[in-house]
Amino acid sequence: MSKFMEWVDARFPATKMWEDHLSKYYAPKNFNFFYFFGSLALLVLVNQIVTGVWLTMSYTPSAEEAFASVEYIMRDVEYGWILRYMHSTGASAFFVVVYLHMFRGLLYGSYQKPRELVWIFGMLIYLMLMAEAFMGYLLPWGQMSYWGAQVIISLFGAIPVIGADLTQWIRGDYLISGITLNRFFALHVVALPIVILGLVVLHILALHEVGSNNPDGVDIKKLKDENGKPLDGIAFHPYYTVKDIVGVVVFLFVFCFVLFFFPEMGGYFLEKPNFEAANPFKTPEHIAPVWYFTPFYAILRAVPDKLLGVIAMGAAIAVLFVLPWLDRSPVKSMRYKGWMSKIWLLVFCISFVILGVLGVLSPTPGRTLLSQVCTILYFAYFILMPFYTRMEKTKPVPERVTG
Ligand code: HEM
Repeated sequence: MSKFMEWVDARFPATKMWEDHLSKYYAPKNFNFFYFFGSLALLVLVNQIVTGVWLTMSYTPSAEEAFASVEYIMRDVEYGWILRYMHSTGASAFFVVVYLHMFRGLLYGSYQKPRELVWIFGMLIYLMLMAEAFMGYLLPWGQMSYWGAQVIISLFGAIPVIGADLTQWIRGDYLISGITLNRFFALHVVALPIVILGLVVLHILALHEVGSNNPDGVDIKKLKDENGKPLDGIAFHPYYTVKDIVGVVVFLFVFCFVLFFFPEMGGYFLEKPNFEAANPFKTPEHIAPVWYFTPFYAILRAVPDKLLGVIAMGAAIAVLFVLPWLDRSPVKSMRYKGWMSKIWLLVFCISFVILGVLGVLSPTPGRTLLSQVCTILYFAYFILMPFYTRMEKTKPVPERVTG
C-alpha cells in the first residue's frame, strides 16, 4: 500500500490533501452540538444528489407528463416512493440543518475577521440553495408548483422598466408552461448542483485557510506547542470524524422517522394542493410557499407597496452578506458579548420564527400588523448592530478554550 501511495503522491497530492484537511487539520477541542451541522449539511447534500440522480432516471420533464411521471415513481418504480420522499424530506432537512448552521455563526461570531469569506461563500450557498429548492418545486407540476412559481416569478414584474420583459425572459413564455418546466429542470438538475458543489469546496477551503472558530471565539493558533500544533487543537481525523458519526446517527433517526411516518409533514414538506395536477385555469384558494421561504414571504407581504415589498424581501437576504462588517464587537462569541447583543439575537430569532409562521397563514389586518412589527425588528437587529456591539460592555475572553 505504501509503495502504491508513494507512486500516487509523486503524481497527485493525495497524502498532502488528507493531512491538510483531515489528519493534520487541527480543530478547536471545544466544538459543541452546533458544530454537527456543517458535516450534516454535507450529508444532506450527498443525499439530494444521489436521490436526485435516481429520480431523474424515471421523471419526465414535460408539462404533459411530469405530474404522471411522479405518480409513476411513487407507485410503479421499485423503491421509487422512498427515493422521492428521501429527496423531498431531504430538501426540508437541508434548510433545518443550514438554518442551525447559520445560527451557530451568529451565536459565536464565526463570520467575523478572518472568516468573512467563509461567511460570504456560505451566503452564496444559501442563495443558490433557495433557487435550487424553488426550481425543484416546479418539477412535480402540481397546483402549488404552478401557482407558487407564478407568484414568485410575477414579483419580478414589479421592477420598473424591465419588469415585464424580465418575467417573460424567466418563463420563456407568456405564461408558465412546459418551456419554463424544461429550463427549471436543466437548472435544478445540472447547473445549480454544480454551482453549489463548487461553492461548498470554496467554503471549506476558505475555512481551512484560517481555521475553525469555536464556542469561545478564542484563536487557538496563538498558543502552540514545540511542534507547532495548537495547544487547544485536536486533529480533525480521527477525533471529529468519529464524533460526527454521533451527529449523523441521531440525525438519521429523526430523518427516517419523518421519512417513514410523516413524509408530507402535515402539508409543510409536501403541500396538499400539490397532489392535484397543475391547472392554469384554477387558482388555489390559498397560495403559500414551502416553510423555509415563509419568513421572507411574510416580509414581502408586510409592505403594502409591491415594489417596496420586493426590495424589502431582497434586502432581508442581502443584509446577511454584510454582517461581518456590521458587527463591531471586540469579541466573537455570545458568551463574552454584552446583554444588548444577547437580547437582539433573541429578538431577531423570535421575529424570524413569527414571520415564518405568518408567511404560512392567510393575511388578516392583525397578522399584517404583527408581520410589520417583526419586519422592523428583523432589520433593526442588523441596522443597530454597529451601535450596540460597540457600546456594550464585553466580558474578558480567556487565553485558552473553556471546554
Ligand atoms: C450546503 C451547505 C453548506 C455546507 C455543506 C457547509 C459545510 C460546512 C462545514 C463542513 C463546515 C465546517 C464544520 C462546521 O464548522 O460545522 C462549515 C463551517 C462554516 N459554515 Fe458552512 N456549510 C454550508 C452552508 C453555510 C451557510 C449557508 C453559511 C452562512 C451563511 C455557512 C457558514 C459557515 C461558517 C461561518 C462556518 C465556520 C464556523 C466556525 O468555524 O465556527 N455555511 N460549513
